[in-house]
Amino acid sequence: MIRLSGVSKVFPGRSGDVVALADVDIEVGRGEICGVVGQSGAGKSTLLRCVNLLERPSSGSVEIDGVELTTLDAAALRDARRGIGTVFQQFALLSSRSAADNVALPLEVAGVPRARRRERVRELLELVGLEDRADAHPAQLSGGQQQRVGIARALATEPRVLLCDEATSALDPETTDQILDLLRDLNRRLDLTVLLITHEMHVVERICDRGVLLKEGRVVESGRVADLLAQPRSVLAAGLGPKLPAPDPDVAARIEGTLLDVRFLGDLVGEPVIADLVRRFDLDVSVVGGGVDVIAGTRIGRLHLQLPAGDHAGAIAHLRRRGAEVEVIA
Ligand SMILES: Nc1ncnc2c1ncn2[C@@H]1O[C@H](COP(=O)(O)OP(=O)(O)OP(=O)(O)O)[C@@H](O)[C@H]1O
Ligand SMILES: [Mg+2]
Repeated sequence: MIRLSGVSKVFPGRSGDVVALADVDIEVGRGEICGVVGQSGAGKSTLLRCVNLLERPSSGSVEIDGVELTTLDAAALRDARRGIGTVFQQFALLSSRSAADNVALPLEVAGVPRARRRERVRELLELVGLEDRADAHPAQLSGGQQQRVGIARALATEPRVLLCDEATSALDPETTDQILDLLRDLNRRLDLTVLLITHEMHVVERICDRGVLLKEGRVVESGRVADLLAQPRSVLAAGLGPKLPAPDPDVAARIEGTLLDVRFLGDLVGEPVIADLVRRFDLDVSVVGGGVDVIAGTRIGRLHLQLPAGDHAGAIAHLRRRGAEVEVIA
């Protein structure tokens, strides 16, 4: 549905060229949600702007639904853009217009007659759960409600593709989850293909089918989240799963033994791996932290284990043989 091939973007600057994107390949299938993560300056926003050609790539191709955008003339590009909705971090609503009139804006631009417009706006506000706030102005709405208006507006022209640039970064954690769940729901109901940009792994965990890690303009990892989780060296996957607090420094200082960070995937979560370890190596194992999450349908367990002083190479090798990822943290 979305296919970027060899996309590069170079901004000429006074003190030399800035390479914002370098030979980026990304493929997102129809109905998938793909999350692009990366640090500030990694090129995420530039990437998103290249997908709707707000930014023209210096080289490479951008294909949406089988149509190569970079070769279209202005009129054809305008048409193609109607099939791509965009949601912004700061909502970008017009403060002088009501929620309904903000949602109506793209329909006015597209020349949709007034009666049909009114009907469509009502449908859209209902779709995002704001049917009773149609007449409110942005200043009278919460951040989450404003973003719902932003999403309804992005969907006004019935796009097949939705682009979101940090759509939840301005929201508190609870509202973030509500908006993420709304995006997931819309993705399923409308068979929308979603490309979203974020610096929060939580967003990937909660709704993404695919993940792309961007670093200094390059794709350093990409794939289905479920597949990435199964790759022991995936940087993206390492950021997913239960977050455990670092062991208390006072406790850590008193520990003479070894502290392990152990991750289990899938069926292994339910197996008596630790009991087996204790029996086999006759070890005094203490669990000092732990949790289980389900991400992209995969169960991920994580434990902080404390082992007594001694050489535990055999025990660690055993855990790894059983399929656990083990890191020695102290
Ligand atoms: N119009 C522009 N002119 C010159 N340089 C630009 C332009 N837009 C982006 N850049 C540069 O390209 C690089 C990538 O910027 P981009 O905005 O895509 O990063 P980002 O990953 O979205 O960062 P953030 O997380 O801070 O939003 C940066 O070095 C930035 O300074
Ligand atoms: Mg950005």
